[in-house]
Amino acid sequence: MLKGKHIILGITGSIAAYKAAYLLRLLIKQGAEVQVVMTPAGKEFITPVTLSSLSGKPVVSEFFTANTGEWHSHVDLGLWADAMIIAPATASTIGKMAHGIADNMLVTTYLSCKAPVFVAPAMDLDMYAHPSTRHNLDLLRSYGNHIIEPATGELASHLTGKGRMEEPENIVAVLDRFFERKQSLAGKTVLVTAGPTYEKIDPVRFIGNYSSGKMGFALAEACAEAGAEVVLVAGPVALKTGHPSIRRIDVESAAEMYRAAVEAYDHADAAIMCAAVADYAPETVSDVKLKRSGEERVLRLKPNPDIAAELGHRKRAGQYLVGFALETNDEESNARSKMAKKNLDFIVLNSLRDAGAGFRCDTNKVTVIGREGKPVEIPCKLKTEVAVDIVDLLARCMNEGR
Ligand code: CTP
Repeated sequence: MLKGKHIILGITGSIAAYKAAYLLRLLIKQGAEVQVVMTPAGKEFITPVTLSSLSGKPVVSEFFTANTGEWHSHVDLGLWADAMIIAPATASTIGKMAHGIADNMLVTTYLSCKAPVFVAPAMDLDMYAHPSTRHNLDLLRSYGNHIIEPATGELASHLTGKGRMEEPENIVAVLDRFFERKQSLAGKTVLVTAGPTYEKIDPVRFIGNYSSGKMGFALAEACAEAGAEVVLVAGPVALKTGHPSIRRIDVESAAEMYRAAVEAYDHADAAIMCAAVADYAPETVSDVKLKRSGEERVLRLKPNPDIAAELGHRKRAGQYLVGFALETNDEESNARSKMAKKNLDFIVLNSLRDAGAGFRCDTNKVTVIGREGKPVEIPCKLKTEVAVDIVDLLARCMNEGR
């Protein structure tokens, strides 16, 4: 997949810079065209001569070439690239990228780059674990950048974090998979619902649930990365979206989510219903704050519309519908009956009995159940990775017309 791809390899001042030479060699071997851009500190760790002889191109490091005065255009480089990889990325470069401090050629190129950006951090463990670094990495993620951390997929080591740069072979594998997926939903529109709903009781109180929206946002991102136009209907969550192909509609209640989803599904090729929609809402909403009284109080609830079931009812030939089921018991049979009742093409089962799965965490472990065939188990990994797997399955169904 990397044959003929234009790749900018950014190298910064870390001891792991020597690994960048291996990475460069692997990229060239796969047929990519690579332009190396280094920070001044990067040159202290590995010589530009090594890198230019591997890439067959002069290394760019300064804004001007010293002897000729030729200007290196970061804008042209940013347009030329199909991808930019910064490996190793130090805490300092990550901080500069997160905050737009463009005082060298590498960060300037990053800011001009229209292509997807992959960042492989490398630093000592304390620096890596520092809240400032964690925050800056979160900012980069929210801009739509891909952070490649070692031991991705292995929960324990991911959480402890090693600060070590990911191995070059694995970085190439991530990139390869990225280009393979990139076109799988091209030309398609996908609706994703995410997060909880809030059902008002009075101006200051509501009925809600613990959904963080992380799984739904990761799905929206994965669909966009696969080339789809995404309509993300989001309940109240504290998450940002960065991808230009995601149109986000913020809603609060199940009724609002219903209206937005029904309208969007009309123009969509598929929908993924990931929101934790409240099944009931207070029958009446008080205009004024309810006062405390010594008496018992009864809150009467009325049923909310079932959004997934309504979309299942409206589903046209060639449209797809994916649901989620969060179960505590009789998981598979409950999930299968939801799939049938809501006319879903497949359902993603979350069991609250599994450690590292479900609400409020960054990881998930799910089983994907289709109408035919054996269920597919996706082992415990980051929600962003689970999302990619689910979108891969959806894209396969859609492209094969199953
Ligand atoms: N769903 C929906 N609208 C609702 C309730 C659920 O769109 N009002 C969707 C969810 O987004 C999910 C699927 O339906 O994709 C199953 O949700 P779940 O809460 O597990 O199912 P319910 O039908 O509410 O069944 P129960 O709460 O009784 O288990």
